[in-house]
Amino acid sequence: MSHIATASAQDFEQELPYYEPVGNECALFEQAYQQRLPLLLKGPTGCGKTRFVSHMAAKLGRPLFTVSCHDDLTAADLTGRYLLQGGETRWVDGPLTRAVREGGICYLDEVVEARKDVTVVLHPLTDDRRLLPLERTGELLEAPDDFMLVVSYNPGYQHILKSLKPSTRQRFVAMSFDFPPPKVECEIVARESGLAYDRCAALVNLAASLRAMKGQDLEEGVSTRLLVYCATLINAGMPILDAACATLVEPLSDDQDVQQGLLEAIKATFG
Ligand SMILES: Nc1ncnc2c1ncn2[C@@H]1O[C@H](COP(=O)(O)OP(=O)(O)OP(=O)(O)O)[C@@H](O)[C@H]1O
Ligand SMILES: [Mg+2]
Repeated sequence: MSHIATASAQDFEQELPYYEPVGNECALFEQAYQQRLPLLLKGPTGCGKTRFVSHMAAKLGRPLFTVSCHDDLTAADLTGRYLLQGGETRWVDGPLTRAVREGGICYLDEVVEARKDVTVVLHPLTDDRRLLPLERTGELLEAPDDFMLVVSYNPGYQHILKSLKPSTRQRFVAMSFDFPPPKVECEIVARESGLAYDRCAALVNLAASLRAMKGQDLEEGVSTRLLVYCATLINAGMPILDAACATLVEPLSDDQDVQQGLLEAIKATFG
């Protein structure tokens, strides 16, 4: 089953989800929305892609339909299907169809995981036609101006069989995400965890040396998300080394040698 999150009108009245801009990404998102262009976000895990999309959806006042794609996700999971309800069969819109009908932002996370038939649905929607054909109901929906499609994936895990075809990629305006520059990352970690800025700065420094180990031994560098976890545990009173071990070592690798290397770097900073 796909995970579907919908923002209600109530959510819009609340504060915007906190997002610290790193470059021109907010302006680019807004332009893409206004010009009715679909957007592709690339970047490592835990660097702020999902937070960015929720922030922008709230800023633009559009409902957000998020789908975490997986290898069983079919076109029907996105468009909808006939379901038996109270003895009769009724068509139920999927999240993509709802976003098109209601004029919202549909966000397909880890889109490369989805099955191939999904691209058949996305193609007419992501070129200048902006059409969503619903074969099963015989409808042909035209996307309203306030509909936007956003997709994301992590190029780090990209499998040769699981990359997007050029004909799909080249339908999107694209931007790359990476871990924020140190000052911005300190702001984020401090704000998200409540830990004092100076202490977050030490963690962000440490992250730089841990990230330098990527490639040699590690598949992915430590994420901003994990730094937030670490700072949150420290702020709650956990000893630094315990917090670091639970957030900056264990989630990154199962390999003893790699873990040892990470631990040494941590001890060199906090030892
Ligand atoms: N620019 C930012 N502004 C505010 N918070 C951020 C930012 N970047 C990262 N974060 C923090 O990092 C956490 C992880 O970010 P997010 O969930 O958006 O990552 P992601 O890129 O979607 O990762 P994944 O690919 O694993 O889904 C957020 O919950 C937030 O605490
Ligand atoms: Mg995400």
